[in-house]
Amino acid sequence: MPPTNRIYLDNAATSWPKPAAVYDAVDRYMRKNGAPAGRGTYGEAIEVERLVSESRKQIADLIGVSDSKRIIFTSNGTDSLNLALHGLLRAGDHVVTTVCEHNSVLRPLRQLEKNRDVTVTRVECGASGIVDATAFEAAVNSNTKLFVLTQASNVTGAIQPAETIGRIANSRGIRFLIDAAQSLGHVPLNAIELRAHLIAAPGHKGLLGPLGTGVLYVAPGVEAYLHATRQGGTGTLSETDYQPMTMPDKYESGNHNVPGIVGLGAALTYLTERGVKHIALHEQELTSRLLNGFLSLDNVTIYGPHDAKQRVGVVSINIEGYDPQEVATMLDTAYSIQVRSGFHCAPLMHEKLSTRDCGGTVRFSVGAFTTHEHVDRAIQAVSEIAASAI
Ligand SMILES: Cc1ncc(COP(=O)(O)O)c(C=O)c1O
Repeated sequence: MPPTNRIYLDNAATSWPKPAAVYDAVDRYMRKNGAPAGRGTYGEAIEVERLVSESRKQIADLIGVSDSKRIIFTSNGTDSLNLALHGLLRAGDHVVTTVCEHNSVLRPLRQLEKNRDVTVTRVECGASGIVDATAFEAAVNSNTKLFVLTQASNVTGAIQPAETIGRIANSRGIRFLIDAAQSLGHVPLNAIELRAHLIAAPGHKGLLGPLGTGVLYVAPGVEAYLHATRQGGTGTLSETDYQPMTMPDKYESGNHNVPGIVGLGAALTYLTERGVKHIALHEQELTSRLLNGFLSLDNVTIYGPHDAKQRVGVVSINIEGYDPQEVATMLDTAYSIQVRSGFHCAPLMHEKLSTRDCGGTVRFSVGAFTTHEHVDRAIQAVSEIAASAI
């Protein structure tokens, strides 16, 4: 658990603290094993390969997928999204996405518009940040190849109707990529029920693993048209200078971040034992408490749905009379409360929320280890800052 005087409410950036088993697993691997994965026949190398395979299987189990070779390890959520977007899209393809996306979706798409003649429709969301699924359908044209959706916004916390959008995508023969950066590990997620072709997620947020880890789920058959964006040593088929086409080697060139993946495995054991369903309930309860606390304050604006059931544990606010950066600094220096201020890498979302010209928002994000006391202290701090602005 964190030192008592530090209240960490920046879990949307990366989760902290991690389960104790994560620190132990990383330390144990670094001190006692240290071998590369998939590249040796001595005892430690075989053991580490087992640990990496086990982490892969745990991710597959978590998202309801039977073949763990469909899970690709990457460096972070951004890396997974780049592989999916650059690997999938060809000249002339049309993509439908939303104004709620993170720059890890928006920027690769801008690049592909510029350099590969890809066209993009960015559908709007409603005032609370929720997208109408029928807007995806309405945006489809004869060249539409891909829908891209952030399942939960890192600004408003709003949960999108991913299952409905997945159904539309599949009925129209369109591929569906989900950015699960703010949902995986926070709410139950099943790749099959969502009809997702690709799911990109960091390992270091809701999955509670170390920074420098990420995953990409690739549905059966998708590898036939998903190009590898990097080539190199995989430890397999070393007698040839052609990239292997087998899963997951096709997309996993270079030595793995084994300390990170082993730590992620330990985090997944914790997540599975505690249960994502229970974590979701815990975070929903905290979010509801936070929302109710902020709603009771006069000069505080809350962005996103006011019903905690429609959100993950991300709550953005502004206090009248204060710049978001000033609020974040006051929270840190006077209250030891750590939050994030600014645009949260989601510029189009701020246009929609009209928070572009006021410097964005102050974002509080709870996690698996956040307590009621943390939330109450955050509400008290915000109420004192808000009162001082009058
Ligand atoms: C919605 C969303 N997508 C993608 C990312 C990128 O994840 P990473 O920081 O692991 O690259 C983030 C991170 O904040 C995010 O919130």
